[in-house]
Amino acid sequence: MLRTQVVIIGAGPSGLLLSQLLHLQGIDSVVLEQRSRDYVAARIRAGLLEQHSVDLLVEAGAGERLQRECLVHDGFLMAWEGEVHRIDLHALAGKRVTVYGQTEIQQDLAEVRARSGGDIRYEATDVRLHDITTARPRVSCTHRDQAVEIECDFIAGCDGYHGVSRRSIPAEVLRTYERVYPFGWLGVLAEVPPLNDELVYANHSRGFALCSMRSRTRSRYYLQCPLEDTVEQWSDQRFWDELRQRLPAAHAARMTTGPSIEKSIAPLRSFVAEPMRYGQLFLAGDAAHIVPPTGAKGLNLATADVRVLHRGLTEFYRNRGRTLLDEYSQRALSRVWKATRFSWWFTTLMHKFGEDPFALQMQRAELTYIASSRAGAQTVAENYAGLDFDPDVVAAIR
Ligand code: APR
Ligand code: PHB
Repeated sequence: MLRTQVVIIGAGPSGLLLSQLLHLQGIDSVVLEQRSRDYVAARIRAGLLEQHSVDLLVEAGAGERLQRECLVHDGFLMAWEGEVHRIDLHALAGKRVTVYGQTEIQQDLAEVRARSGGDIRYEATDVRLHDITTARPRVSCTHRDQAVEIECDFIAGCDGYHGVSRRSIPAEVLRTYERVYPFGWLGVLAEVPPLNDELVYANHSRGFALCSMRSRTRSRYYLQCPLEDTVEQWSDQRFWDELRQRLPAAHAARMTTGPSIEKSIAPLRSFVAEPMRYGQLFLAGDAAHIVPPTGAKGLNLATADVRVLHRGLTEFYRNRGRTLLDEYSQRALSRVWKATRFSWWFTTLMHKFGEDPFALQMQRAELTYIASSRAGAQTVAENYAGLDFDPDVVAAIR
């Protein structure tokens, strides 16, 4: 039987970041990932980082290319019914956001971890957790046709929404909360310059649209679409025509179009599982919570979890202190619920839910309030740029 200090399930951003941060503290881990390295590296996800996420990636030694290639934004635009309002993040919240694709983060983390000799086992199937509530938990799997069993002190469940970790917590212990939204996002990546220097979120009677970017030459655009739609129904031409209709005229007029590099449809969901700890198992990232992509909180929540968990594990191995680990779930969830609220609110504000005239008036009233009130705009800016950690968390995780 193999032995390590922490078994990490999942080699997404949460698992790799945790593994690398632990390594820098001299703590050993083995990462078990069911997919291939190429598959994991190719996934296209969001691309907007709060400052604490950038800081943690830099701390992990995975920030070099990020700092060279990223775009830093001071604000973003909200558009509706011919109005365009800029949320000045820097003036209102004293913060900026960083545009850098999660696909790149995934590659940077995999590279740093490989360079530091990380034990990452891709294509590990049939991963199972054993004796989670004892001091000697184990994880078994099949890797390269061999049965593998690893004994450890802790298990980090970083295996996303569909993973095995959360499902290993007994149903009577786990409480879940869920909201499924009645539409999806059709995303297109294209090698064209972004139509605006900053992101544009548009509420339109035909449905929501978002103009984001990956670089000065690569754009990432999204359209709200029916859940039943398939990408085959959306030719590039149809996508560009629809996007143009949903944007303010001045922006639509200057849009550059081109062939799509990637096109996909994703459903929107809010999901939270409590507690995020059971025995020696700690859930982090998408394994414990999912937010709809409006506002791009998913990765930022994952890095926040990893920060708290990493500090807790470090405290344990330094002096056998358990305070942070015991408080992990509560501390992580306090941030999770706030981001869940913001993502739900921003989704509700910007999407078309139907023809209900009352709901439409509520959206309009809220948008005009934000545009006319510094307090209204500041609330948006503060949440969008990323809330500060609670003061007691800051003191504990420094
Ligand atoms: N065994 C081993 N690995 C698994 C298993 C399993 N049973 N189930 C899932 N995995 C792997 C997946 O293949 C994936 O590579 O766990 C990894 C989870 O990675 P992510 O889904 O990227 O989750 P996370 O690392 O928490 O990253 C959160 O990703 O989905 C976005 O919006 C989200 O930006 C956020 C970030
Ligand atoms: C993205 O660039 O993919 C992105 C940016 C901001 C969002 C959602 C997605 O709110």
